Amino acid sequence: MSMQVHVITIFPALIESFLSFGIPRIAREKGKMVVEAVDLRSFTGDVHRTVDDRPFGGGPGMVMLAPPVFDAVESIENQHGSAHRILLTPTGRPLNQQILKELVTEDRLILLCGRYEGIDERVRTGLEWDEISIGDYVLSGGEVPAMVILDGLARLLPEVLGHPESVQQESFEQGLLDAPHYTRPRSFRGMDVPDVLLSGNHAAVERWRREQALRLTQEKRADLLADHPPKSDSTTRTESR
Ligand code: ADE
Repeated sequence: MSMQVHVITIFPALIESFLSFGIPRIAREKGKMVVEAVDLRSFTGDVHRTVDDRPFGGGPGMVMLAPPVFDAVESIENQHGSAHRILLTPTGRPLNQQILKELVTEDRLILLCGRYEGIDERVRTGLEWDEISIGDYVLSGGEVPAMVILDGLARLLPEVLGHPESVQQESFEQGLLDAPHYTRPRSFRGMDVPDVLLSGNHAAVERWRREQALRLTQEKRADLLADHPPKSDSTTRTESR
């Protein structure tokens, strides 16, 4: 499976440089995630390559123009076929791991990075979008949110991570935060690795991790437990036997 992503932005170099490190780079090199950074300015018609203008009705800031965005979207889709279109905006639905898992099943995505104080409303209403926010705060543009999505997707694509089971164990996967991890040295500045992790007893380790995940989630993110009561799993069954 490979996924095609077209990122419409006025900073294509920012997206390109992001894709040259870590897991996104591996996803790209393995051909699992094919990303095209599309320069919005190449869809302007004037010498200044204008992508924004002052708001009708007055007020501070600039508004992203509708025509270059429509042209960019239509150019991409005429060339490659229809895409699941994502508009990065603080007014979108809040991103979470479940949404990433849905998005990773799409063949083709368009990510539109807004900039300036906003985007002409006709972009939002005149084209169909999945509007996504990465959190309740306002950034200067949609590029960082687009990179958040690219990163979250890259590591979910099959054969990108060296250890696919790490996706199953990590935070949010079971509706819980991840259990703590330890590596060498066994003792560091008076802090010791919990004995159970050195015991070689796989069932006991699993049980400990499950307990830790529950405790951590209760302590830090009780809202997750309220939203999705943890499913009983093999570890819980082992306990009740
Ligand atoms: N653009 C600006 N702020 C944003 C946010 N929080 N999420 C997505 N896109 C944005």
